[in-house]
Amino acid sequence: MAKRIDVKDLNLFYGKFHAVDGVSLAVPPRNVTAFIGPSGCGKSTVLRSLNRMHEVIPGARAEGKVLLDGEDIYATTVDPVSVRRTIGMVFQRPNPFPTMSIRDNVVAGLKLAGERDRKKLDEVAERALRGANLWAEVKDRLNRPGGGLSGGQQQRLCIARAIAVQPDVLLMDEPCSALDPISTLAIEDLIQELKKDYTIVIVTHNMQQAARVSDQTAFFNLAGVGQPGRLIELDDTERIFSNPSQKATEDYISGRFG
Ligand SMILES: Nc1ncnc2c1ncn2[C@@H]1O[C@H](COP(=O)(O)OP(=O)(O)O)[C@@H](O)[C@H]1O
Ligand SMILES: [Mg+2]
Repeated sequence: MAKRIDVKDLNLFYGKFHAVDGVSLAVPPRNVTAFIGPSGCGKSTVLRSLNRMHEVIPGARAEGKVLLDGEDIYATTVDPVSVRRTIGMVFQRPNPFPTMSIRDNVVAGLKLAGERDRKKLDEVAERALRGANLWAEVKDRLNRPGGGLSGGQQQRLCIARAIAVQPDVLLMDEPCSALDPISTLAIEDLIQELKKDYTIVIVTHNMQQAARVSDQTAFFNLAGVGQPGRLIELDDTERIFSNPSQKATEDYISGRFG
């Protein structure tokens, strides 16, 4: 199997607290991987470690390897800022810059990187907004503030902002949890489109969503309060939801706990 992301024996800490124990998993290119499991089992922590956002938290530490196309993103020679450009992230609550224009929200990363050519920035903004299925709704108000959009539109704006810098991988942490059902379906459709170009890892507490959008599903669990989270199994989504190999997975997906 071709591997875009290859995680090897990853251990994650917050100070002395061992939050996640020994995770190994691989993600093929142009694939959607869902992380599911009860609250506190480390899904967000693992996700943030995939683009070195974990270490931004004071006292937080990662041990182990995360290979992107065979290169360890934790190697001492690697610049974490460039990692975050290659592996973009979309958060639970849409977080556009509220007073900044829709257009400038999308190209904020490029401008930060020094791009000043107006025509180029306009082209990138249009391409990213089209890619995020938002262009038709905002093309006549690109100079209006991003904060004026609906929640679902704001989340698609954040996706446009993430893809504007042409990442290889998109990480999404419960991207629909603040959205209504219609906006949620719009994001799920968008994920299916984006998968043609990007590798996507999505955390979701919604098992139907995992079943709808993902190709493979990773189930995480923890033995108890204060215990580290662990990856219990990773398999094709169909398999996880029909015939998982671990009893804990079956109990979780059938709603017996969590
Ligand atoms: N910033 C933080 N500082 C200290 N502990 C944290 C922090 N973020 C998460 N944790 C702890 O790490 C564990 C895993 O959390 P998290 O990754 O957020 O779980 P999930 O996303 O599966 O709900 C939990 O015990 C949580 O309390
Ligand atoms: Mg979380």
